[in-house]
Amino acid sequence: MTILVSPSVESCIGKPLERVDGRLKAEGKAAYTDDLVFPGMLYGKGFYSSSPHGLIRSVDVREAQRQLGVISVLTAGDIPGKNEIGVVKEGQPLLAYEKVRYAGDCIALVAAESREAAEKASRLIKVDYEALPGVFHPEDALKAGVPAIHPGGNKALHLKLRKGNTEEGFREADVVLQRRYEVKHQEHVYLETQGAVAVPGPDGEITLYGSIQCPFYVQKAVARCLGIGYNKVRVIQIVMGGGFGGKEDVPSEICARAALLAVASGRPVKMVLTREEDLVTTSKRHPMIMDYKIGAKKDGRLTAIEVMIHADCGAYDSLSPVVLFRTNVHAAGPYVVPHVRVDTIGVYTNQFPTGAMRGFGQPQVAFASESLMDELASELSMDPMELRLKNALREGSLTATSHKLTESVGLVETLEEARAASGWDKKRKEFSRQSGGGVRRGIGMATSFYGVSLGSKGWALDKAGAHLQVWQDGTVNVAVGNVDMGQGALTVLTQIAAEALGVTTDRVLMLETSTGFVPDSGPSVASRTTLLAGNAVIAAAREIREKLVAVAASLLGASPEEVNGFPNGFSARGREISFEKVTRECYLRNVCLSTIGYFAAPPLTWDEEVSQGEAYFIYSYATHIAEVEVDLLSGAVQVLKLTAAHDVGRALNPQSLEGQIEGGALQGIGYALYENMVMKEGRLLSSSLATYTIPTALDAPEFKVLLIEKPYSGGPFGAKGFAETPLIPSAPAVANAIFNAVGYRARRLPILPEDVAEVDAI
Ligand code: MOS
Repeated sequence: MTILVSPSVESCIGKPLERVDGRLKAEGKAAYTDDLVFPGMLYGKGFYSSSPHGLIRSVDVREAQRQLGVISVLTAGDIPGKNEIGVVKEGQPLLAYEKVRYAGDCIALVAAESREAAEKASRLIKVDYEALPGVFHPEDALKAGVPAIHPGGNKALHLKLRKGNTEEGFREADVVLQRRYEVKHQEHVYLETQGAVAVPGPDGEITLYGSIQCPFYVQKAVARCLGIGYNKVRVIQIVMGGGFGGKEDVPSEICARAALLAVASGRPVKMVLTREEDLVTTSKRHPMIMDYKIGAKKDGRLTAIEVMIHADCGAYDSLSPVVLFRTNVHAAGPYVVPHVRVDTIGVYTNQFPTGAMRGFGQPQVAFASESLMDELASELSMDPMELRLKNALREGSLTATSHKLTESVGLVETLEEARAASGWDKKRKEFSRQSGGGVRRGIGMATSFYGVSLGSKGWALDKAGAHLQVWQDGTVNVAVGNVDMGQGALTVLTQIAAEALGVTTDRVLMLETSTGFVPDSGPSVASRTTLLAGNAVIAAAREIREKLVAVAASLLGASPEEVNGFPNGFSARGREISFEKVTRECYLRNVCLSTIGYFAAPPLTWDEEVSQGEAYFIYSYATHIAEVEVDLLSGAVQVLKLTAAHDVGRALNPQSLEGQIEGGALQGIGYALYENMVMKEGRLLSSSLATYTIPTALDAPEFKVLLIEKPYSGGPFGAKGFAETPLIPSAPAVANAIFNAVGYRARRLPILPEDVAEVDAI
């Protein structure tokens, strides 16, 4: 497949095009969900369970209904369609009935004339619970005699990966290490909390506006709960203040609840969560307990890896089947290992459902496996960088799923370039000679691979559509089914559309994402938007470009083969003609310049029983090197510098990539050092941003970003998806740097100052 469809000489690809929506946001003109107002609009509020596990004896809403300004109060019995909100599997009610499974389960809904009235009424709802013993720890959940959270028991899933024979691999090993690592919940902390506005139409149709990563999930969820056709539900995604995976599954709940209230009251309903509601009720990153065993020869060659993971899925499945698929496939790291055995067990507990969060089940195992590689390097007295290089995946290598990598494998380049740019060799030596009190420096590294998009598990969702329209004046509108949540999709898709059509970027205007314009494009997740939506845009542009070239040829008195393009024009036989002259001519000749482009992921072969085969169609690679300073007295850790080398296929917009890498790496630093979700008996104690702290700009290290381009022939102009990757290696790089500084080996996250200070640095 040729990737360059435009002969444009001044390519806009690889240029730092300014964010197309940047000015609007910077000037405060962008309208977010909570800025929307509709005539007669009501305010919706949820009533959430205070009990982590209990039977519902009764729900009394009479007092709430009597309040001034209250228009509608709904419980499970009022749902006209199906009381179901599960994304992958059924079993998660939109409104809890009979039973609650976590402190945050939604039981009732209120719509009122004002936020205050809705809030007051919701506090007057009374629920009588019969308390059941709770399950709060993933290993406890499977013990005998523990109450079952769901009728089928507490085991949600068990994924198995089997390659070779690990017993044999460990027999061949000179060194075998066994370690346990643990990680807790992580919260997305998008700046804009979850929210939606539902606007009912006169004839049973409904329109949803909201902060939504997956408009087509919302469409399905709302249709199912209201019991109406998909064609009557229009979902419009508007400007978003972040998603990070948290707006993948949850908006279906928010939108369906707002929709129920809107239909019941016949009026528009806005539902925007407070920060506390958002923290307490919505999905998080999976906590995991990870038991690793690794074997290697004296020279560092890996012989076997065995992994047993217990992942906390919380009260409902949500996206666990797909998140943990990624965990299972990536657990052994980006290495050539002949014998691999991974068991990923997902269990229910009486805590928030865990779902998608940037990295999608990978940051957990990256922390474990990259810490373990560092421990192995110490054991072998090897440089951690050399150990990685020795085992790194290269072109022609087989992954843990026995997937043979045939192109765009930039792992070794990320290692070598990060090594050189960070001064790794010199600093490792320098920092090993520190003595005395005060502060100590350390440098640590971690590396990773990342299967782009949904992989074989989500292959049926792996498609995208784009509607492209060229007007007679030569300007262009593009609408896609995937969304910009702040990551810059609108900007990069503008570049792709301009390049593929042969116009300058100022001619292209992206329309908002609406289910009304384009075919189902799957979710906007898993670093897939640039690749999938980008290819759909190219498919549409190619079709239109062909028509334009034919008309240009006839105007220039040439054959289509003789026509060359330049930005905003065509030439042939020494003559030039402007783009708009051609589009105007198309208009007059009734040549349609509007079309839908469609792209589907290539087919993959996969054996689900043993997780062997082509897990994903392409992989991205990243290496991070962190330099830290540790205060020996307080244990406080400051990350001073972070070198991030990323193989992105092709850097379509380097400035945008750098921003995403810095942001993602900082989220990883937060995961490593600051973000401490404290739970007690299923209740969240750190339920505000004063107690659940994330890094701010003041905590940001100096970044050195290295973009490595190993083009992928199936990507738009060679690009691969990469947006989740910056979060994956940064936490283990920091943990390994702390070990280098003071000898504290972190086996759980977050790494708290008190843990670090307990170690006597020698
Ligand atoms: Mo992402 S965590 O796949 O939205």
